[in-house]
Amino acid sequence: MPNPLSPILQQMPKAELHIHIEGSLEPEMIFALARRNRVKLAYASVDSLRQAYAFTDLQSFLDVYYAGASVLLQEQDFFDMTWAYLARANADNVVHAEIFFDPQTHIERGVGFAAIIGGIHRALEQAKAQFGMTGGLIMCFLRHLSEDDAFATLELALPYRDKFIGIGLDSAERDHPPEKFARLFARARKLGLHLVAHAGEEGPSAFIKTALDVLHVERIDHGVRCTEDAALTERLAREKMPLTVCPLSNVKLRVFDRMAAHNLLHLLEAGIVATVNSDDPAYFGGYINANYDAVFDALPLKRRHAYQLARNSFDAAFLSDTVRQQYLARLDTFFRR
Ligand code: ADE
Ligand code: ZN
Repeated sequence: MPNPLSPILQQMPKAELHIHIEGSLEPEMIFALARRNRVKLAYASVDSLRQAYAFTDLQSFLDVYYAGASVLLQEQDFFDMTWAYLARANADNVVHAEIFFDPQTHIERGVGFAAIIGGIHRALEQAKAQFGMTGGLIMCFLRHLSEDDAFATLELALPYRDKFIGIGLDSAERDHPPEKFARLFARARKLGLHLVAHAGEEGPSAFIKTALDVLHVERIDHGVRCTEDAALTERLAREKMPLTVCPLSNVKLRVFDRMAAHNLLHLLEAGIVATVNSDDPAYFGGYINANYDAVFDALPLKRRHAYQLARNSFDAAFLSDTVRQQYLARLDTFFRR
């Protein structure tokens, strides 16, 4: 039986704050771009690529994800990928989207920074004009690469400073603690960029603490392993530090063995500003509304939790106070119907 809250979950206005744009590349688009750009893939067909989506942990996913991103070469490719995501997000009533991108994956293959950020940014502008959707770009650094590589990438990005709002940290978490990028984040902070980092997804809760204390991030991406440390859980709630939680991702990458074991309700009950997001929707079985549906189906979440999660998404977004208030008012109107 469909969840009676599903229409509310689908229709309520929401922000998405944790979406890797390369993780929105559907297999069909991967094959279309491979043909257009004459890139040879290690998979014979869309079906065989899909069959590779049986992940056992974060690294097993990242291997397939970086292979998929190898078809992106031209500005138009980055536009087409981003536009497909934004149209999909608009259908899910996402009114504000903060989008991660991984420039190092592309620069390594000889793609110019201008093509990467130009295509993604152009799609965001079109979404603003066509849907009234707001958004921003967050440039993520691959933590398995060196600090030097990250600094060189930041230099390449600086001429495009007006096209992104912040930096993040992603890729393989194990053995790559936040401290590795302390100087990079200090530099970005001086530049007035917003700061976020993946922490406590597969790595220990101690990484959440160092992301806060050493990198001075404003949000934690995932962060679900905070509940292994009661004092940290309390601190996150007290400091209103948002967590961008990605339920389908967490089950696919075996952070939780099934959705019923997810700690989202526990996080909300602990007073944490938790949000629901899709992470890599093409790989993990669904976009943001599918994440809402899956977690509400598995856990005893109620209408008030739907409101709280949508509200948290706007509270945690990098928005001006004026626009934030407009979105919150719109959300309140929706829930008063
Ligand atoms: N890059 C894309 N998705 C990611 C995730 N869930 N964790 C770390 N790096 C990622
Ligand atoms: Zn992520």
